[in-house]
Amino acid sequence: MQDTTTAIHVSGLYKQFGRGKQQVKAVQNLDFEVKAGEVYGFLGPNGAGKTTTIRMLLDLIRPTSGTAMLFGESVQRNPDILKRVGALVEGATFYPYLTGRKNLEVLARSGGYYDPKRIQSLIEQVGMTDHAYRRTKGYSTGMKQRMGLAATLLGNPDLIILDEPTNGLDPAGIQEMRTFIRELADKQGKTVFLSSHMLNEIEQVCDRVAIINRGKLVREGTVSDLLSEQAQLVVEASPLDKAQAILSPHWALHSNGGVHITVEAQREDIPTIIRKLVENDIKVYEVASQRQTLEEYFLAVTQGEDNNG
Ligand SMILES: Nc1ncnc2c1ncn2[C@@H]1O[C@H](COP(=O)(O)OP(=O)(O)O)[C@@H](O)[C@H]1O
Ligand SMILES: [Mg+2]
Repeated sequence: MQDTTTAIHVSGLYKQFGRGKQQVKAVQNLDFEVKAGEVYGFLGPNGAGKTTTIRMLLDLIRPTSGTAMLFGESVQRNPDILKRVGALVEGATFYPYLTGRKNLEVLARSGGYYDPKRIQSLIEQVGMTDHAYRRTKGYSTGMKQRMGLAATLLGNPDLIILDEPTNGLDPAGIQEMRTFIRELADKQGKTVFLSSHMLNEIEQVCDRVAIINRGKLVREGTVSDLLSEQAQLVVEASPLDKAQAILSPHWALHSNGGVHITVEAQREDIPTIIRKLVENDIKVYEVASQRQTLEEYFLAVTQGEDNNG
């Protein structure tokens, strides 16, 4: 069935490498959906199964079971759908003795979309104007990533899949990449699927995020949904033991022995918390809402998953 609003639909995706004792369950029953036009982050620590999933999306390896659909077509049954996809997986490979520009020309010719103006424009967009006429042999990792990104865009794909695109980039390069990815979605209507183990940068660029760990989907949602799941309030009040006694039936509390207690609650709970304390003659000096970074959230979520299967 043709479905143009869903760019990626993965269901029950499973990949096992090897047999017996050597067996690795790299991806286990993944289900997720990426809508056309969104920037979707695929987060997980090293070894989580990100690249394996992406390789199945691109028909580079076969799933053990489950399906990967792109724009409503099974990738395995109709690999032609990959014409609508540009991908950068584990760094680009270039002819080392050709210049960056020449590499793009070769790729464009073999893909049947050679257009010198477009090549020039892409080189400018990825910030490689000064290095386009150098052999790629001498490129830094960051330069290869930039040129690789230009290469994925040559055929004007609707969906761009980037595996750890900020690897090897310096902070300024990461910021540029972020802006560039946002523009691909916001100005050109592209769908971007990007993986990363670096979370703070994903937080600012993605509309939605899936967190995977040990081959399994741990959480999925908008960045703000994921963060609001685990908000914390830091409360300074006196007497503190009385405050704790009043709040503890309603919310989980942590005390570090100082003048504060940390309350596992939402921002919306602040008025109720203050009212309960004041009604009981407790002096409230401060209630601060602590927004976790996605990085902290991610660490909490992945460390909590201690299953080995
Ligand atoms: N071709 C392969 N043969 C055996 N094991 C593999 C192969 N590819 C990946 N793996 C294993 O699958 C797991 C997931 O790897 P990968 O998808 O590369 O993770 P990530 O990209 O999230 O770092 C790891 O344990 C890795 O060692
Ligand atoms: Mg990887």
